[in-house]
Amino acid sequence: MIDVQRIRNDFPMLHGKKMQSHDLIYFDNAATTFKPKAVQKAVDYYYTDITCNAHRGDYDLSYTVDQAYEGARKRVAHFLNAKVNEIVFTSGTSEGLNMVAQGYGRKFLQEGDIVLTSESEHASCVLPWMKVCAERKATLAYMKLDESGHIDIAALRSQMNERVKVIALAMITNVLGYEAPIQKICALAHEYGAVVVVDGAQSVPHMPIDVRKLDCDFLAFSAHKMCGPTGTGVLYGKYDLLDRMDPLHLGGGSNARFDMCGNIRLKNPPFKFESGTPNIEGVLGLRAAIDYLDVIGMENIHAYELELHHYIVRELLKMDNITLYNPDAQSAIITFNIKDVFAQDAATFFNANGIAVRSGQHCAKLLVDRLNTSATIRASLYFYNTKAEADRFLDVCAKANMQSCLDVYF
Ligand SMILES: Cc1ncc(COP(=O)(O)O)c(C=O)c1O
Repeated sequence: MIDVQRIRNDFPMLHGKKMQSHDLIYFDNAATTFKPKAVQKAVDYYYTDITCNAHRGDYDLSYTVDQAYEGARKRVAHFLNAKVNEIVFTSGTSEGLNMVAQGYGRKFLQEGDIVLTSESEHASCVLPWMKVCAERKATLAYMKLDESGHIDIAALRSQMNERVKVIALAMITNVLGYEAPIQKICALAHEYGAVVVVDGAQSVPHMPIDVRKLDCDFLAFSAHKMCGPTGTGVLYGKYDLLDRMDPLHLGGGSNARFDMCGNIRLKNPPFKFESGTPNIEGVLGLRAAIDYLDVIGMENIHAYELELHHYIVRELLKMDNITLYNPDAQSAIITFNIKDVFAQDAATFFNANGIAVRSGQHCAKLLVDRLNTSATIRASLYFYNTKAEADRFLDVCAKANMQSCLDVYF
């Protein structure tokens, strides 16, 4: 069970913030989340008490930072049930996914190979493969989805053959909020010798993840979507794959030695992927975020968010003025439109009522055709949102129509 009122005390952004003279309701958590004091304290601790570089000094302070930084890596590994040398710190999901496309795809894809993705994916999951496939003369193909946009394992099986080398997809998509059956997809991919690259941006923050149970080959996610700092993320990769792939960047910290003849000997993973001074405070903040989330419990977070989601969806389905695109989502993402109102105008109406939601294409531009609309509104919840906030949101939804949304401008 979640004691949401107690939890809210931990978040400064949930107190005394007004938008358009209303108490702020933040329903844009898929974009980024608020940070609890524990995370702010961890970042502040680095700047106030232990500032120095990591992996470079021979003095006590430097040792303290190394311990903290590598301790964070152990903590992330434990959180995901991975091995510690399978955790690479990145700047976020986008960087992690680019690292795999460029470091693994560019190295191993051959002419005629196939990379499978889906039309529901975020740009960060598709574009790196689009580029690498074009370079390697491989084909980027799209999985057949069922009517409502879910992945259909039987259809996926019919698309599999020995040329499919990579499947790249989100565990939870960021517009429809559907959960892909990653464990089944991995088992199927491995029958054909393909690797599965999971975009975990919208799943890792919201549910328990066990990479060994899923048996995924790579998983990328961002700290800022799970109460952590911006500019920090993680790429998990199976050690033998990380060992075989090339780093995206070269520089200090990632090499064991190099000479004037151009010979470079890289360190072992994960260090060969972490050139340059890392985002130390971000990593320490991520560790604090994981500690924070784990005390609440990822199972509890998932169950609470689904409960709130089901409540809102049930009420929205009763409203004639709402088009709901994903009533059956297995996550706290609600994507809808107000009938006859352009999504951005509707978002402005929500703003006028103190509610932050996102409108547009949400970086998933291929989905537009499937949804048959140029833009949608997305409300995305986190465990600190309340039923009272849901009720205020539903009240505003009920009042939204062409006239009320236009009135905001005059
Ligand atoms: C599904 C998905 N993948 C990738 C990303 C990119 O994450 P970041 O901007 O943190 O790199 C996002 C961000 O919204 C996302 O929702």
